[in-house]
Order: sequence, then structure tokens, then C-alpha cells
Amino acid sequence: MKTVHDRAGLRPVIDGWRRDGKTIGFVPTMGALHEGHLSLVRRARDLTDQVVVSIFVNPTQFNQASDLEGYPRTPEQDAKVLEDAGCHLLYMPAEEDVYPGGTAANATWVVPEGAAEGLEGAFRPGHFRGVATVVLKLFQLVRPDLAVFGEKDAQQLAVIRQMVRNLLVPVKIIPGPTVREPDGLALSSRNVRLSEEERQDALVLHRALEAAAQAVRREGPGGSADAVRDAMGEVLATVATARVDYADVVDATTFQPIDRLPDRAGEIVIPLAVWIGETRLIDNIRTRLT
Ligand code: PAJ
Repeated sequence: MKTVHDRAGLRPVIDGWRRDGKTIGFVPTMGALHEGHLSLVRRARDLTDQVVVSIFVNPTQFNQASDLEGYPRTPEQDAKVLEDAGCHLLYMPAEEDVYPGGTAANATWVVPEGAAEGLEGAFRPGHFRGVATVVLKLFQLVRPDLAVFGEKDAQQLAVIRQMVRNLLVPVKIIPGPTVREPDGLALSSRNVRLSEEERQDALVLHRALEAAAQAVRREGPGGSADAVRDAMGEVLATVATARVDYADVVDATTFQPIDRLPDRAGEIVIPLAVWIGETRLIDNIRTRLT
């Protein structure tokens, strides 16, 4: 695995691969890598000749300075596990390389609407503007044939798909399933911030999603989406320390809340965002009514 720190280092490698007719797979990340990230790298490896991973903690997608400053950073460990997972090229730039002149000098943004508006978009203003802008910048640099994004961040995946469709970006978007701990907690770089007690409380997210899945089966096609929301609410209320931003039922493509569960053609996502102490966790399940 080769590691480069700037665009000047990236370019000749990408040019060479393209000249040789190699296909390129890309996995953008913010580092502090875990098995969830690595599953995406392996997926890219299965699908393409060369795999590029970026590690860049993108300042413009953070709402709180404290979240940005406290974001876990483990570059040496990351490089080691990426090599083992089969990454060929690691791009680990400084802010100046992605935002020439600094983020304050950036005057051109991708401002996603539609799928970006509710949920994370409502609770984290500007978040998806930062995500969409940095992902488009990274696509321009890496010029991949495909990019793999985790279903863990289901709304982000929908926003990226929407951007690629709307802006005619020639990159195929591949979803990767959410990787969980044996007890159901979705892997997240932010999990390291949980105390032992909070780690137990955090299981309420998975329990709420299980209750939601059960309610979907009970309600069936055309059933009440509110019944699913209520089932989650009941479970979430059992943990006194959990503060819920949202627990919703939305269409998987538009991310608009729905009233009635669809028939078998429609895919839905059940996303939730919950504060456990000072840590904000998100999770979701995706389902079709078969
Ligand atoms: P980050 O949170 O580092 O996540 C990088 C990728 O890993 C995303 O596609 C995310 O959905 C996926 N991922 C995270 N946890 C996962 C899990 N438990 N199972 C499967 N996949 C998982 O998402 C970002 O970074 C940034 O917003 C980024 C796209 C890099 C833009 O800055």
C-alpha cells in the first residue's frame, strides 16, 4: 500500500492506473477505522482492480467545534489495518489540500435538497452541504469507477446517490451493510467515547430497531407508520439517560416520512438518532415488505 498526503502525490498514481485500463474503487472515510470501514474496503476490492481509501476529517460537515476537535484520530493504526484489508492507495491530506486557502476561503458548495432536508439535515444544519461538497471534491481527485458507502449512514447514502444522479457524476454508488458488535451495537468511530455504563445504555438503539421491525411485520403493507414510530418510542423511553433527536419511518430514496407502510415494491428506512450522555449515535434498518 502506498500512502500519499497531497493531490500532487495522488495524481500520477491515478493517471497510471487509468492509462493501464484498471478499474478504481474508492472508500472515503474520516479515519479511526473499524471493521465497518474495512468491510467497505473489502467490498471495493472484490469489485475493482485498485482500491483507494481517503482519511480526512472534513471540518465543514461538523456542527460543533468540540465534536471536530474531539474526533478520534488513529492514523498509524489505520494505515496498518488498511494494508491488511487490501487497500492499494491511502490518501491522507491536510486541510489545505482539500480546501486551498482554508475552509473559510471555500466559496463554492454543493447544497443538497430533497433527501438532505429532514432528520440529520434538520438536526445538523449544514452537515450534508459539507458532506456533499467534500465527496464531490474527492471524486474529482480520485476519479473512481465506483465508491462504497455504508448503510449505517443511510441518509448520507441517499444524499450521495441523489447528488450523483442530479449532477451526472460518473461514479457508481455501492451500498455496504451495517457491521455490528455481537450484541447489536452498530460500529462507530464515536463508540470509543462511551463509558461502560453508556455502552450498555447505547444498546437501546438496536432494541428500538428490533421493536420497529416487529411492528412492521405486524402492520404489514399499507399499515400504520405511526404504529412503528410508537413501538420505537416505547423502547427508547425505557432508558432514562437516552435523549432522542428522532426515530422515524421514511421512504428509502426520498427520505421523506411516510404515513402508510408501502406494498412490496417500496423500500423503507427506519432511522434514529439518540444522545447517550454527550455522545450522539445514529442507526437504522432498511426493509421491504415482502
Ligand atoms: P465515516 O464516518 O468515517 O464513515 C466512512 C464510511 O464508513 C461511510 O460510508 C459510513 O457509512 C461507513 N460506516 C461507518 N460505520 C459503519 C458500520 N458500522 N458498518 C458499515 N459501514 C460503516 O461518513 C463519513 O465518514 C463522512 O461523512 C465521509 C463520507 C467520509 C465524508 O467526509
